[in-house]
Amino acid sequence: MNLLTIKKANEFDITIDNIASDKSISHRCAIFSLLSDKPSYITNYLQAEDTLNTLKIIQNLGAKVDVKNNIITIIPPKSIIEPITSLDCGNSGTAMRLMCGFLAQQDGFFVLEGDKYLSSRPMKRVTEPLKKIGAMIDGREGGNLAPVAIRGNTLKGFNYTSPIASAQVKSAMILSVLHAKEKSYYYEPFLSRDHTERILNAMGAKIKNINKANKKCIEICPVNKPLKPLDIEVPADPSSAFFFAVATVISKNSKIVLKNILLNPTRIEAFEVLKKMGADIKYIIKNSKYETVGDIIVKSSSLKGVNIKDNIAWLIDELPALSIAMSVAEGVSTVTNAKELRVKESDRIKSVVANLKACGVDAKELEDGYVINGSTIKNALIDSFGDHRIAMSFAIAGVIEGMSITDIECIKTSFPNFLELLSKITKVENAN
Ligand code: S3P
Repeated sequence: MNLLTIKKANEFDITIDNIASDKSISHRCAIFSLLSDKPSYITNYLQAEDTLNTLKIIQNLGAKVDVKNNIITIIPPKSIIEPITSLDCGNSGTAMRLMCGFLAQQDGFFVLEGDKYLSSRPMKRVTEPLKKIGAMIDGREGGNLAPVAIRGNTLKGFNYTSPIASAQVKSAMILSVLHAKEKSYYYEPFLSRDHTERILNAMGAKIKNINKANKKCIEICPVNKPLKPLDIEVPADPSSAFFFAVATVISKNSKIVLKNILLNPTRIEAFEVLKKMGADIKYIIKNSKYETVGDIIVKSSSLKGVNIKDNIAWLIDELPALSIAMSVAEGVSTVTNAKELRVKESDRIKSVVANLKACGVDAKELEDGYVINGSTIKNALIDSFGDHRIAMSFAIAGVIEGMSITDIECIKTSFPNFLELLSKITKVENAN
């Protein structure tokens, strides 16, 4: 079990131009390349455990993958090959849920498996609506837990209202009916991240935001031919950049410039909340073919407490790092309506609150969030619970007084150069 020790940081003024590439977009590029009959080119694909597993999965399905000078070429197979092994999604809920939707309408038999953390996360949110449109899909606990077995089938168009705002569910459902005979309509309680719609439309799919019976929904029109291939440069991941934004805000007299970050509005809500707390944050917007991309400039700031109950789907991944900012802010902060935190890579309500308490912070669990009474964060021994975002959130908290974190291997799932970048602002020791 690795032990990471972080020392208190001195003042810094730096620019980082190699924050890890966006995980959500990378997974999608790998999977969507199978929807074309021509090679796709992906620059800056995230080379982390989660997204490398997705590349292995598409290779097992017959794609040829070639990596040269930061450009990945994916040559799709003529038709999907029935793999002789099970498909390993590792730690990634995105890979497993999107692959459920994609494979449910392919010819063949497929088994999706994951690590012990992924194997305890709910899959019913995709397997149930998929079964309703004809998918032959099963797993432990009636199809709720991995391994998940799929026998591809012809699927019907749907009218589906999802009880949760989840981009993984939305993407799985969209992928399942791209080649159905009928149009489909997907309703979600709140707009979740929209990379699937944007990328697939750029590839020639017909996915529209419409009003149906006075309700906003997504209309998915069938496509009867292969989609156009991808030629895309993946921007840096805002949820990875956010660790460094928080580290800067809570440090004294410091500044950071984070280059080429994805600025999709459904992904930068945590930066907006940090601004509301008093942080000095500016965006310099550039443009891009598929998404808005730009630089983010962050300076040290004094923070005040905040109540978060809206737009939760837009900042769900950043809530652990935001809890560190809340812990040093003046006054009380609350997070509610965030029950989804309980089914992430760990139960993040438990793992955030238990670790904050270990750091001497007055924090309390709620069923759907937590309350944090801001003061300061003391040096403590942190358990990552095998969750990359918990490990990195408490690592950056170390800039204040230092921190030790156990079980840090998980960082590799999303941000392999995190420690190298953290060592630009403070001393980092990694002992085995
Ligand atoms: C993701 C969607 C979110 C997010 C996850 C990545 C995606 O999950 O938490 O890290 O790439 O679609 P949900 O869709 O379950 O909210």
